[in-house]
Amino acid sequence: MIDDMPDGLSESAAIDVRKKLGTISGGDVLDVGTEDGGFITVLMKTLKKYNSFTGIDISEDELEKGREQFKDDPVNFIAMNAETMTFQDNQFDTVCASYSIHHLENIDIVLAEVYRVLKPGGNFILQEMYSDGEQTAAQHVDRDVHHLDVKVDSLLGIPHFETLTRQELRDSVNKVGLSDVEVFESSWSVKCLFCDDAQDCENPMRADNIDFVTKQIEDTLTRVHTHLSYDELREEAESLKERVKAEGSAAASVMYLFGKK
Ligand SMILES: C[S@@+](CC[C@H](N)C(=O)[O-])C[C@H]1O[C@@H](n2cnc3c(N)ncnc32)[C@H](O)[C@@H]1O
Repeated sequence: MIDDMPDGLSESAAIDVRKKLGTISGGDVLDVGTEDGGFITVLMKTLKKYNSFTGIDISEDELEKGREQFKDDPVNFIAMNAETMTFQDNQFDTVCASYSIHHLENIDIVLAEVYRVLKPGGNFILQEMYSDGEQTAAQHVDRDVHHLDVKVDSLLGIPHFETLTRQELRDSVNKVGLSDVEVFESSWSVKCLFCDDAQDCENPMRADNIDFVTKQIEDTLTRVHTHLSYDELREEAESLKERVKAEGSAAASVMYLFGKK
């Protein structure tokens, strides 16, 4: 963990989540909606121990990057739709989903699959941002920048949905029937505990952050520059850019949910 931790981070639930992860022997771990395996990096640093990781994603786009990044580690990346996993029942000791729930067209179907492939007694770990609760104006900006991205993805036919509320997340997982459920809500993610730039994130108004988010909004808009809805989205983007200038932007708060099959 980093030595020079910002106060907000050291007081956040990220510390408790890290402790909780440190009690879990991961065994064979499946990461659902893995992209390039960002959460696998976090789990390697925090789980008590593990045997292997399998990352699945419906899109091949980022998997190759993951394969390159983890080429010396026991990590296997497979292009697979999480709604129809080809794994056997009870195959994995741990199944996790990080920031992928709000990308799923059918959350219930995927969570039923998660339960099927998880061994009895195995661990489910969810990391997902949420839209409600006491979040700062800068965090609301981040949520709304994300929602612009959702609109653009939807116009392009890419499944992507608005961030869920804490209750919606709990309700989705509750349907699965996990036991020993434990929930943490944190304004910082566990990844920040290992980030040398964490101090910078205390200030959502810093110039490089404002430039970065402004460019992100522009890039998002460019993806639909020929679309009929462009003018309407441009208006929304301009108003978001004003908000970024006035409030800055900070990552939305995150829910961590742990449960057992
Ligand atoms: C925001 S990314 C996940 C980020 C990553 N897990 C992390 O924590 O760094 C969401 C991913 O979910 C994937 N996804 C969406 N629907 C899926 C499905 N039905 N099956 C598998 N992956 C899916 C998307 O392709 C995308 O890569």
